[in-house]
Amino acid sequence: MIKSLVLPCKALKFPSAKFEGSNQLRHKGKKMELTITRPDDWHLHLRDGELLQAVVPHSASHFARGIVMPNLKPPITTTAAAVSYRESILKALPAGSDFTPLMTLYLTDTTNPNEIKLAKRSGVVYAVKLYPAGATTNSQDGVTDLFGKCLPVLEEMAQQNMPLLVHGEVTDADVDVFDREKVFIDTVLQPLIQRLPQLKVVMEHVTTKDAVKFVESCKEGFVAATVTPQHLLLNRNSLFQGGLQPHNYCLPVLKREIHRQAIVSAVTSGSKRFFIGTDSAPHERRRKEASCGCAGIYSAPVALSLYAKVFEEAGALDKLEAFVSFNGPDFYGFPRNTSKIKLSKTSFKVPDCFSFPFGEIIPMFAGETLEWQPSFN
Ligand code: DOR
Ligand code: ZN
Repeated sequence: MIKSLVLPCKALKFPSAKFEGSNQLRHKGKKMELTITRPDDWHLHLRDGELLQAVVPHSASHFARGIVMPNLKPPITTTAAAVSYRESILKALPAGSDFTPLMTLYLTDTTNPNEIKLAKRSGVVYAVKLYPAGATTNSQDGVTDLFGKCLPVLEEMAQQNMPLLVHGEVTDADVDVFDREKVFIDTVLQPLIQRLPQLKVVMEHVTTKDAVKFVESCKEGFVAATVTPQHLLLNRNSLFQGGLQPHNYCLPVLKREIHRQAIVSAVTSGSKRFFIGTDSAPHERRRKEASCGCAGIYSAPVALSLYAKVFEEAGALDKLEAFVSFNGPDFYGFPRNTSKIKLSKTSFKVPDCFSFPFGEIIPMFAGETLEWQPSFN
């Protein structure tokens, strides 16, 4: 049973003596509400089994579509596996949900270019994820040598207009963990886009000013980036605030404040190159609060409120809708959603945890007060 859900609250309706801003910002007295096109999540971990069952309602309640990451055990390396994983997700959705999972393949050293043709033809697989081997959760089957082993596959992807989604970190033990993204840009990403300029690339969960600069320097429409709520709201101090904070641990790891600020500036500038990707990555509490804790922050229940907080604090609420609802589908070549979601500026407390028969999951900002509660009209 979910303890207390941060979900649409029908009671939050404010009479419509309105102030119409460019982004449908209305207010009555001190109450504000913002109506925007329903967003999508372009980077999402839904897991499988009982965890999938537990978490998928949170994403489905706010987002219309989600790019579903393939790092299961075993990973989703074939179109056939992606089709079957998609069936499990659809089965796990709450009754009446119209959430659409957009499937991805997990790239390995042995992925065959023919698999890309099959993926494209399936009509349900929309991208291929590159995990450098050893970079993160369930990445042990990832790529060991992108240029040596994967060029034919990447060429086929460019041909098929199939985007490559990149976990942008090198894994060399002699590279400092805080420098892994920058070194990856210099040694892998930059050479890759020079070699295959027609390949669409999404640099996932950018964490540094270097990544922002890199994405801004690339050809618009070919290279873009997703941005998580944690990399917009937290810096690496949050890992050690009053003691070790396992629920703020994710990969790529949080960076210095100057990097957070650069990412906030990029997304609130109105650039089309950056879009929402929560990287919501649930792990059971006991697997986070452990001697070797898992990387991943569970943000799905509160992600929209967190992004709204970032844009409001930057004085850029008028740019929120493009970031969460337009830039992603425009990059992928999908139609924008037509339904709407309302964010009401009403305080609510984030649950301390979500309890399930198999264990607990701690959400991002657990126990804290947030505003901008989402609901449907
Ligand atoms: O923090 C993370 N968690 N980063 C990733 O790249 C993977 C994810 C997961 O699957 O738990
Ligand atoms: Zn991820």
